[in-house]
Amino acid sequence: MSNKENWGSRVGLILAMAGNAVGLGNFLRFPVQAIQNGGGAFIIPYLVCFLVMGIPLLFIEWSMGRFGGRHGHHSTPFILDSMDPKRVIWKYIGVFGIFTNLAVAAYYCYLESWTLAYIWHSISGSFSGQTSAQIASFFDNYVNLQGGGFEPVIVWLFCLALNTWILSKGLSGGVEKVAKIGMPLLILFGILLAIKGVTIKAGEQGAIFDGTVGLNFLWTPNFDSIWSAKVWLAAAGQIFFTLSVGMGSIQCYASYVKSKDDIALNAMSAGWMNEFVEVVLGSSILIPIAIGYLGIDKVVEMTQSGGLGLGFRTLPYLFQQWGDTLAAVAGVFWFGLLFFAGITSSLAMGTPCMGFLMDEFGWKRALSMDIWSRHSYFRLTHRIIL
Ligand code: PHE
Repeated sequence: MSNKENWGSRVGLILAMAGNAVGLGNFLRFPVQAIQNGGGAFIIPYLVCFLVMGIPLLFIEWSMGRFGGRHGHHSTPFILDSMDPKRVIWKYIGVFGIFTNLAVAAYYCYLESWTLAYIWHSISGSFSGQTSAQIASFFDNYVNLQGGGFEPVIVWLFCLALNTWILSKGLSGGVEKVAKIGMPLLILFGILLAIKGVTIKAGEQGAIFDGTVGLNFLWTPNFDSIWSAKVWLAAAGQIFFTLSVGMGSIQCYASYVKSKDDIALNAMSAGWMNEFVEVVLGSSILIPIAIGYLGIDKVVEMTQSGGLGLGFRTLPYLFQQWGDTLAAVAGVFWFGLLFFAGITSSLAMGTPCMGFLMDEFGWKRALSMDIWSRHSYFRLTHRIIL
């Protein structure tokens, strides 16, 4: 097997795994799920699911990955195959661990490109002096490719190229470096925004409620919905999504650990880091700010259409209430943290495909990007035919 890479350091491994888990789901999906499912009532099933389902699944996926890696395999079809070589079916079940990642990566990279564009628009002052309707329609025009010409397409292509380029640099030279820079920045931006969010004061800078009103709404226990199957299902779904379990990306990252690495401790470190970012930071930005300015009823109504609307149509307008400079800084922090959250996850979705092509078809890393390479193309057809 030509693919003998390892993570460069333990910190790098934990940050990359945490980066895999920490994604747009932590900042846009979690708060909306919590609100839709009864606020404080959601957190109990959520934490139970994390403890009884999330942590064991993390252990299982890390162990599977390390096992496969020892046998020279870094993608689920062959990791599963190496666990039970007698039954061919596992190899085919493992194919889901490649395609689900590709499917999620397809929309994830697009969302990531929105965050990049919005960082630029926050700095260049596109939102300053605009009404809430204008900022909302800016977003609608952006995603409908109206008005801005080809900007969304260009930024999206740039994003794809950036992901591909980082992947081509390898694990320690690419993915790990991005995680080491991106994760600390994400946490820093998140903490600063969270402080601003929860300290919003009613009557100041146009806010109607304190930031703590949103926080309390999110966390006041409401036991009415605790027996509802829907709430449990939503909590379990969020745990799956946020920890990136059941996808194949954890197995893939774990297959690159050194054979003697302590995977239990590493899995716990990365898993709990994700929970900190989700429960503490994910709760303290979007919801307190939105409720501080718009009130509970309006925000609950807005969550019906998901977190994207609140994150992209509403927040840039609310930041404007803090004055031009602070609005630009808040925009860079918010969309910057979303960008780092996004790219460290999309790289995790790309790695299984790279691992698969490199192990099983002997492609070189740079070559895995180049499906037209004659040599690889020949080997690919050769493998498929035989
Ligand atoms: N865990 C990521 C999030 O919370 C999503 C993700 C799913 C990332 C699958 C990688 C693989 O947004």
